[in-house]
Amino acid sequence: MAKETLTIKDNRTEQEYEVPIWEDTIPAMELRQIKVNEGDFGMMSFDPGFKNTATTESTITLVDGANGILRYRGYPIDQLCEKSDSFESAYLIQYGELPTKEEYDKWVGDLKARASLPENFKAFFKAFEKDGHPMGKFIASVAALGTFNPTGSDIENVANRVEHVQRLFASAPTLAAYSYRNSQDLPYVEPDPELSYAGNFLKMMFADKDGNYELNPALEEALDILFILHMDHEQNCGTNAMRSIGSSHVDPYSAMAGAAAALYGPLHGGANEAVLRMLTKIGDVSNIPAFLEGVKAGKEKLMGFGHRVYKNYDPRARIIKSHADEVFKIAGANPLLDIALELEKIALNEDYFAKRKLYPNVDFYSGMIYQALGIPRAMFTVMFAIPRSIGWLAQWQELLNDPLQKIARPRQVYLGEGERSYKEIEQR
Ligand code: CMC
Repeated sequence: MAKETLTIKDNRTEQEYEVPIWEDTIPAMELRQIKVNEGDFGMMSFDPGFKNTATTESTITLVDGANGILRYRGYPIDQLCEKSDSFESAYLIQYGELPTKEEYDKWVGDLKARASLPENFKAFFKAFEKDGHPMGKFIASVAALGTFNPTGSDIENVANRVEHVQRLFASAPTLAAYSYRNSQDLPYVEPDPELSYAGNFLKMMFADKDGNYELNPALEEALDILFILHMDHEQNCGTNAMRSIGSSHVDPYSAMAGAAAALYGPLHGGANEAVLRMLTKIGDVSNIPAFLEGVKAGKEKLMGFGHRVYKNYDPRARIIKSHADEVFKIAGANPLLDIALELEKIALNEDYFAKRKLYPNVDFYSGMIYQALGIPRAMFTVMFAIPRSIGWLAQWQELLNDPLQKIARPRQVYLGEGERSYKEIEQR
């Protein structure tokens, strides 16, 4: 049988090194033995943006980018979207197994009991600038919620950790809805324990000032599917931020605020908002060829296209696209859909995109559905953050239970000045 090792020859010294292979990886620390002389620090790998570096083992989510596959704990995403709900999929992500009826009821009851915000916290919300971006409010309020939950920092206590995981996942929709209502000068609506995770969120967003809201079950289900789709996506920018911050053993509120901040950027969860801006700017199907010429010339990006891992159609985009018609039938057509469909059709036939394996990602169609649900554009990334909270928290738990994990502390290749002497200001 072939040996599970890799032989590396250093042509500078003619020396050979044998390093173990595990799951198609080599331990980066094995490179350190490769030196030109005793005083040499040893070799490191150089990998900006972690393009080819695994930073952890994980049993939560599989993304098979070549084949366009996404599974949570082994279950295909399309099956979960068809048969599960947000509460159940969140349990699966958190605990690794689908719950029994009893476990499900207890989990849902525990979450519903933790969805309200402390009374003083509402006063804190009022201090936000009305026109501030709701994602900024969401990020700040996740961190601030930690100050109302000081026991969150006792991360060694496993039962305590579960308590705060439940508080964060349960209150994510409440924080999100309050971020929106704050910008509309509307009074807060208390969580409704009778409703589903998605239904409760819709009610907290859109109820009138007397708390009345008529829930459309089909739209509620469409949103629940969007929530399931966004729950986890292995080691992306936001999750890596969660793990990196969590590796310092800070409380989960602070770590999740950092993860949400990472998600905010337009290359990550902010892309859904950017897609809508892009489609609006294109304005008409006839303008698509000129827009794509600009993309190919490197003047702009086709937002909602491309992915670090998927080099095939993002399965989340496929599921969203298949539900778009249903939503538009109830909520009214979105005129941007025609532009998006045509843009996709033309782009997929262009060499530029084919050569680079650029396909629509989750953000290409999600914004149009959010818009049909009446959710304003500035809330789109918040909509991504709500369900992603459970993924971040499961990854955080996995990190803390993993004896291999250490505080995140990458290396650098220093190319700056050598030592030089300080010059007084008059001499510069
Ligand atoms: N439009 C035009 N060209 C693109 C695009 C795009 N959307 N995405 C990648 N490329 C080109 C890029 O210019 C590069 O070309 P070249 O080889 O000639 O330099 C090549 O494709 C490879 O791209 P990259 O930037 O090296 O790939 P990456 O893995 O570093 O970036 C990405 C991945 C998602 C940041 C990038 O595809 C992108 O910026 N997409 C648009 C933003 C977007 O939709 N983000 C949402 C991602 S899915 C939600 C999430 O999980 O965050």
